[in-house]
Amino acid sequence: MIYQYYKDIMKPLSAVMPTLSFSLAVALGLGFSLVSTVVMAETVSLPIDTLPSRITLPNVSPANSALANRGAYVARTADCMACHREDYSGGVPIETPIGNIYSTNITPSTRYGIGNYTEADFKKALRKGRAPGHQIYPAMPYPSYHGMTDDDISALFAYFQTVPIVDKPPEKTTHLPFPLNIRSLMLAWNVINVPSTENRSGLTQTQQRGEYLVNNLEHCGTCHTPRNLTQGLDKDRYLSGAPLGKWFAPNITPDNDTGIGLWSEMDIVTYLRTGTLDKRAYAGGPMAEAVAHSTRYLTDEDLIAMASYLKVVPAIKTDDYLIPVNVYRLPQPVNNSITYNLLEQKDYLAQAKTNTVSSVNNSGLNSNSPKDLYLANCASCHGVDGYAQPDARYASIVGLSSIRRVKPDALVGVIAFGAKGAFNTAPKMPGFSKDLSPAQIASITNYVRVTFGGLPSSDVSAADVTRVIKEKS
Ligand code: HEC
Ligand code: HEC
Ligand code: HEC
Repeated sequence: MIYQYYKDIMKPLSAVMPTLSFSLAVALGLGFSLVSTVVMAETVSLPIDTLPSRITLPNVSPANSALANRGAYVARTADCMACHREDYSGGVPIETPIGNIYSTNITPSTRYGIGNYTEADFKKALRKGRAPGHQIYPAMPYPSYHGMTDDDISALFAYFQTVPIVDKPPEKTTHLPFPLNIRSLMLAWNVINVPSTENRSGLTQTQQRGEYLVNNLEHCGTCHTPRNLTQGLDKDRYLSGAPLGKWFAPNITPDNDTGIGLWSEMDIVTYLRTGTLDKRAYAGGPMAEAVAHSTRYLTDEDLIAMASYLKVVPAIKTDDYLIPVNVYRLPQPVNNSITYNLLEQKDYLAQAKTNTVSSVNNSGLNSNSPKDLYLANCASCHGVDGYAQPDARYASIVGLSSIRRVKPDALVGVIAFGAKGAFNTAPKMPGFSKDLSPAQIASITNYVRVTFGGLPSSDVSAADVTRVIKEKS
């Protein structure tokens, strides 16, 4: 997962990009259903029966107490696994410009994990970033967990007693240079940045649950809220979008032009459950991790609560306009013979490859047709028509919000640096910054935006690409 975090209180703001890799959870197939902790007072009018059903929680077991199993669900909603690994053995780097901060072993091992923690210790670590004997760096999202309820912490604690012990230290541990290795510096940071728990008034009970999930458990803001100068969350720009290493976490306030104001609650729920919204949005990169490890396991009630809350947070308009999908401009799926006849498709793509290769050889860079560049480099996975290879499970890119932004940076970043694909077991998307020139990447970017995004025109230049690559490297 990719997190942009604070680094230290004196350093300039800069994005952070860890290299985390996770295996997807293996569902145990236990027929277990968890009840959300909140009493749902209102009747829910969404057509939830049309939602793809929730995957069974892999970390609950009938052998454990109800409290521990509720804790297993809280661990999902708080996405502990994203950073501490599926087995909680730790060692995952949160990359920062001053060095990596590695997550720790949080299994009940008394030597290497949290086996000696009392519940009070655990509560302090989650709420205040204070482990017995040392201060924790805010790469651990305790500023968000600060508002976690006593009930949820008790359940989590009970659950962590049942986690299989990993009796060894993480492969890597944190070694920051002086003076950043002085953990007590964090005390000063905490005074400035750990928010006092303040809840909005006037919310329905469902929305209050949503607020708690979004702000405290799911910590959506750690990615979607921009940072202030001390790397704390900038409350005035709450959820309005922030750069995130090589990615960009877009504006998710209900602004119609730059946020998700046009999404229905059902759209939000579908996106968080499945990671896709047909011809409109796709959860790639760090968002794919959030969906894969956490949101897809949430109950319908909890997803609806978050959606309902996201519809009432203050709408913020940014300068990163989203160009609405013009459905008439979007491509139709191409004829079946090219889509489904792999031999015919192979010839078609080979021809495109020959075209681009010969133009590079004969006359240097930038003389290739944008379409041939797309076909040669992208179509084997995304399909000649952008609808993706029907047999493989690659992302369809037709109509995606990430290719319809006024700022092309996020799209250029994906093409330049690739994407891991938390959902796909198929090969990941490679980065093209080494193989293609900035002019060629610009050309493909423009082609993708116009052809698959339905934009009237696109004028990304080689200089834009060079800038984005430099900024995100
Ligand atoms: C965004 C990544 C991230 C998430 C999510 C996260 N942690 Fe952490 N956690 C870390 C990192 C990094 C450290 C080590 C920080 C340090 O060395 O100061 C850490 C440290 C800890 C510690 C302190 C261990 C010790 O004794 O030093 C505990 C306890 C802990 N995490 C529990 C949890 C629990 C429980 C959850 C889920 C509710 C969770 N973490 C979610 C990144 C994360
Ligand atoms: C680890 C960082 C991270 C976390 C945590 C995270 N997001 Fe995201 N989110 C992203 C990124 C990056 C994207 C862009 C994905 C893409 O373009 O493929 C995104 C995209 C989205 C979108 C699609 C917006 C659009 O216009 O396409 C929505 C909606 C969203 N996130 C909601 C949430 C909610 C709700 C939460 C909390 C449950 C959350 N996110 C947590 C990083 C994150
Ligand atoms: C080897 C297969 C492969 C190739 C080649 C490939 N991609 Fe991808 N692409 C993927 C996969 C898989 C994803 C989904 C990644 C994820 O889930 O994070 C993806 C995602 C995307 C996205 C969606 C980003 C987002 O999250 O919103 C875009 C846009 C994209 N690719 C464009 C391209 C372009 C343009 C090219 C050619 C320069 C290309 N891809 C080449 C496999 C590929």
